[in-house]
Amino acid sequence: MLKGKHIVLGITGGIAAYKSVTLLRLLVKKGAEVQVVITPAGKEFITPVTLSALSGKPVICDFFTANTGQWNSHVDIGLWADAMVIAPATACTIAKMANGVADNMLVTTYLSAKAPVFVAPAMDLDMMAHPSTRRNIDTLRSYGNHIIEPVEGELASHLVGKGRMEEPERIVEILDNFFSTPQPLKGKKILVTAGPTYERIDPVRFIGNFSTGKMGYAIADEAARMGAEVTVVSGPVSIKPDEASVKVIRVESARQMCDQCTALFPDSDIAIMCAAVADYAPAEPHTSKIKREKSEVPVITLVKNPDIAATLGQAKHSGQIVVGFALETDNERENALDKLARKNLDMIVLNSLRDHNAGFGTDTNKITIITADGSDTDFPLKSKPEVAKDILNAITAL
Ligand code: PMT
Repeated sequence: MLKGKHIVLGITGGIAAYKSVTLLRLLVKKGAEVQVVITPAGKEFITPVTLSALSGKPVICDFFTANTGQWNSHVDIGLWADAMVIAPATACTIAKMANGVADNMLVTTYLSAKAPVFVAPAMDLDMMAHPSTRRNIDTLRSYGNHIIEPVEGELASHLVGKGRMEEPERIVEILDNFFSTPQPLKGKKILVTAGPTYERIDPVRFIGNFSTGKMGYAIADEAARMGAEVTVVSGPVSIKPDEASVKVIRVESARQMCDQCTALFPDSDIAIMCAAVADYAPAEPHTSKIKREKSEVPVITLVKNPDIAATLGQAKHSGQIVVGFALETDNERENALDKLARKNLDMIVLNSLRDHNAGFGTDTNKITIITADGSDTDFPLKSKPEVAKDILNAITAL
């Protein structure tokens, strides 16, 4: 998939720059056209002669070529690129990119690039772990850049930890995957619910469940990779989406989740209801902590929460698709079919807690997809990202 692609390879001043030579060679071997842009510090680690010999193009470092006065247009290079890869990216360059400090050709080109940007940090473990580096990397993520996380191993300092630039072969694989992912959901707006809901009993206690959000966030990430514009309405979870384009709206309770979903649904093409929504909430949450010392065991009266999937299922107009999940412990198919009909869904994804390594918290899931028109497909146990792909492919087929 890299054949004929225009890649700007940014190289900065770190010991891992020696790996950029292999990266460049592999990209060229795959048929990509590569323009190297190097920082002044990068040239201390690897010579432009090696890089220009391998890329077949002069290496760009300065705004002007000294002897001819020729201007190197960062704008033209930025627009030429199908992707920009900065490998290795030092803490200094990452900080400049995060803050728009355009004092060299590489950062200036980065600021002009319209293409997707891949950043492969490489530095000592303590620099990598420093809050300022983490914050700058998060900032790049929020700009939509793809971070190729460094791996653990022995570093230039001989310390061992996370900071080694990812291997060139893997970086090429990531780029290859990026260009080969089909985008059948381009132009579609998808609403995904994920995680549990918490229903407050008092300020310190709640009714909740074991959902971690892994399944819902995997669907959101995969849908974004397939080209969709994705919003996740998420209950309280500790995970984040991998794809920077995924928008997350955080809520706590079923009622809050319902409000957000009903507001977003009219503008959505597809809603995928993966959240484990609490069916009941305390009727009157206490405003102060219920004390154990009181002699009587408190009785908590519950009221029914709104059924979000059913609300959207009833509100949908032709062209909109609503997909629900069914998490069952017994009478799986019967219960799933009942939910499909009762909530007016187009498809239901059945998972059962009787299946080993399926359901809550696991990295895998085992599903059956049942559609309103009667088709019924069992899938084997797969990783949640793979399951997400199966679900989205089934939705695309609808
Ligand atoms: O988050 P993980 O740890 O990765 O776990 C994933 C999962 C097990 C939570 C997920 O795969 C899953 O099964 N999600 C749905 C859980 C659930 O609440 O199922 P249910 O059968 O109780 O609900 C049926 C459908 O109605 C679901 O789409 C649910 O989102 C929706 N619902 C339920 C109650 C309610 N008040 N409003 C709803 O919208």
